[in-house]
Amino acid sequence: MNTSDSFCVTPVSELNATIVAPGDKSISHRSVLLNSIATGSAQIEGFVKGEDCLSTIKILQQLGCEIEQKNSEFSSTIHIKGLGLYGYTEPEDILNAGNSGTTVRLLSGLLSGRNFISIITGDGSLRKRPMKRIIDPMIEMGAIIAGRDKNNKLPIVFNGGNLNGIKYKMPVASAQLKSSLLLAGLRSKGKTEIIQPGISRNHTELMLEAMGVKIEINDKTIIIHPISKINAIDMIIPGDISSASFWFIAGICHPKADLLIKNVGINKTRSGILKILNSMGARLEIIDHRNISGEDVADINVKSSQLKSTVIEGDIVPYLIDEIPVLCVAAAMAEGTTVIKDAKELIFKETNRINTSINWLKNAGINCDATDDGMIIEGSGRIQGGEFNSFGDHRIAMSIGIAGLFSDKPITVHGSKSVDISYPNFWKEINTISK
Ligand code: S3P
Repeated sequence: MNTSDSFCVTPVSELNATIVAPGDKSISHRSVLLNSIATGSAQIEGFVKGEDCLSTIKILQQLGCEIEQKNSEFSSTIHIKGLGLYGYTEPEDILNAGNSGTTVRLLSGLLSGRNFISIITGDGSLRKRPMKRIIDPMIEMGAIIAGRDKNNKLPIVFNGGNLNGIKYKMPVASAQLKSSLLLAGLRSKGKTEIIQPGISRNHTELMLEAMGVKIEINDKTIIIHPISKINAIDMIIPGDISSASFWFIAGICHPKADLLIKNVGINKTRSGILKILNSMGARLEIIDHRNISGEDVADINVKSSQLKSTVIEGDIVPYLIDEIPVLCVAAAMAEGTTVIKDAKELIFKETNRINTSINWLKNAGINCDATDDGMIIEGSGRIQGGEFNSFGDHRIAMSIGIAGLFSDKPITVHGSKSVDISYPNFWKEINTISK
């Protein structure tokens, strides 16, 4: 039964469809955040209509930025007037990032060291997530900031300070933290040097370079110098590989499937899932590899495949961190035992994704266990039907939903509305391809 927050997916005998991936969430956030501090105006096409990115727009408007949004069925076109590096004005009210970690963390780099007070908070999930990783380096740079729970949780208050460039060894491989430091570095005195334990998604670096910023990148070390202005740029947002991944798994795991997923961003710091699926024996073909607005894009064809287990560990983990919940479904359908390691960061996502993934998989009859930094999943080639809870996490909801297309019996996802965070048309798309 479907209700406003539950959705039932019924297995289908065949899957044959073409799907256009919705706009990339990470790139959509950055397109408005970076253009908001640029000089000039920009038009952004293919902006994802998910709630997270809408939170970013709303906050930028509160900071004085003029943003116009024209919605079509699947995406928005945005017109934004940049305020320049120093143009934000004091917001009248508290800024609310909703469920979005990217909004809070990237904005922290932009709100630090301003000559006004701002306060940022979020929903129940975001208020539980760690923020010390952002607050500590900002304080080291000279920002005056305070956060709840010994500077680790939202709300965070920003109250001025003078930013100085620092040399910073990041404790975790996180694109949100790296981006926050890069954005603060643009307005700091002297250079900012960032040393990463592992390489994470590089959309911020690519976009800043396209806007005229020189960034020195040497393997895991990045150096940025202060600058007086960055140039606004028009952009077309590529499709989100994280959203497309649900269809990869549907096509590969369903016994009679042939799916074409169009317009998928395949930036190499985001597409670890393609490598892993290849190593599992997936029939996956990359078609028409092209470059759009500085990002690699392709169409991807997936067909029913006999999967074997794999090990996911080491440097590839940040390249597929958001795809682990859906890779768990592939692991459950594969022959053999899949081991996921070095993925402790999963604990700090919208939910503890080690626990929320194991919870529903176990209830669906899969032999699996959580470990300190990942999971062990025994593939059985089938997933039972039933009712499973996403705990309000969009990627868990979609992972469960996709499994319903090839499970033994129908699957009902509780907490289905959470897909609005990144992929509002997801259930509609499932209905369309199930016909
Ligand atoms: C994101 C970075 C990743 C990812 C998140 C989006 C980004 O988080 O999990 O969904 O847009 O920079 P971390 O930076 O915490 O690794």
